Amino acid sequence: MVQAKKWIMTKHFDGFPKQSDFELKEEKLPEPTDGQVLLEAVFLSVDPYMRPFSKFAMKEGDVMIGTQVAKVIQSKNEAFPVGSHVVAYCGWRSHTVCDEKGLIPIIAAWPKDISLSLALGTVGMPGLTAVYGLEEILELKQGETLLVNAAAGAVGSVVGQIAKIKGCKVVGSAGSDAKVAYLKELGFDVAFNYKTVDSLEEALKTASPEGYDCFFENVGGPSSTVALQQMKDFGRIAVCGNISTYNDTAPQTGPYPQMVILMKQLKMEGFMQNRWPHKNEETLKRLMAWVKEGKVKCREHVTKGFENMPAAFMGMLQGENIGKAIIAV
Ligand SMILES: NC(=O)c1ccc[n+]([C@@H]2O[C@H](COP(=O)([O-])OP(=O)(O)OC[C@H]3O[C@@H](n4cnc5c(N)ncnc54)[C@H](OP(=O)(O)O)[C@@H]3O)[C@@H](O)[C@H]2O)c1
Repeated sequence: MVQAKKWIMTKHFDGFPKQSDFELKEEKLPEPTDGQVLLEAVFLSVDPYMRPFSKFAMKEGDVMIGTQVAKVIQSKNEAFPVGSHVVAYCGWRSHTVCDEKGLIPIIAAWPKDISLSLALGTVGMPGLTAVYGLEEILELKQGETLLVNAAAGAVGSVVGQIAKIKGCKVVGSAGSDAKVAYLKELGFDVAFNYKTVDSLEEALKTASPEGYDCFFENVGGPSSTVALQQMKDFGRIAVCGNISTYNDTAPQTGPYPQMVILMKQLKMEGFMQNRWPHKNEETLKRLMAWVKEGKVKCREHVTKGFENMPAAFMGMLQGENIGKAIIAV
């Protein structure tokens, strides 16, 4: 019998999450029965979606939702032998007994010199998000100019690098000078700190006086309205995230974007990365190939210790991370 730990959400977050909204609990897990496995978390992901999803996908007292890379430590399922690794959507748990539903084996021939944690980042959900936003929604073409915000994060950093592979000009905004330096290292043509520029409008105009063909939107809120003004006519916008509003306790009000969408004849589409599951296998292979060739570089913001999950989650929402925020158990 295994003694497991889990983080529960004691009460719905009121604005920005607080340490007291979480509680660490222990439980004894039963032995796996036929078809089941016992998983031990190795890396856990902290992602922005957990904040809005907590409102409608969780009730008070539930285990925090989320994905992890886990090792199979007991198995009564031949498809998942002891010692193999999986990506599992089983929440903030140190150990889990479950059947195979929702378990994704780590892709075949995962290179030994590449950390399995990348299965939660560049070669996982955030990487898929970057590819699908660029290819399925924006249909980004060589020579175009792309704007991406939250650009030094898990999704944004991959977005910018793939856009460079596709022969585009890339402008990225991020919330610290260290992040801006990182974006320049990654090959972004222009990067700026949106917290210290005098005017976002001027920064966007200076970065690309001719405007933007495509905008990969991770942030939302008032900065989005400013960015829309800088789109070229017939520009395309992929609405991937809205992180600047996730902790709001009251809805934000205008200025509303309809007039600029109308006058510039913009095309704006929201998307969730899970729309193209049939493409995941091929896309993950492509992401892994780019990583191995050094064309897509990966950085992780690693917090050690399962007990530090709430701190890492709150830190990510405050912008502490460069690259993918993960927990190493
Ligand atoms: N549609 C989908 O299927 C999908 C999938 C994955 C992620 N997403 C979305 O994509 C976005 C990025 O996710 P990620 O996993 O890559 O996270 P991330 O960028 O690694 O981390 C979140 C970052 O958001 C920025 N941020 C936080 N509050 C902000 C604010 N008020 N204004 C501007 N920026 C703020 C911070 O960077 P700065 O220091 O630069 O502010 C922080 O580091 C999120 O909106 C997320 O919800 C969508």
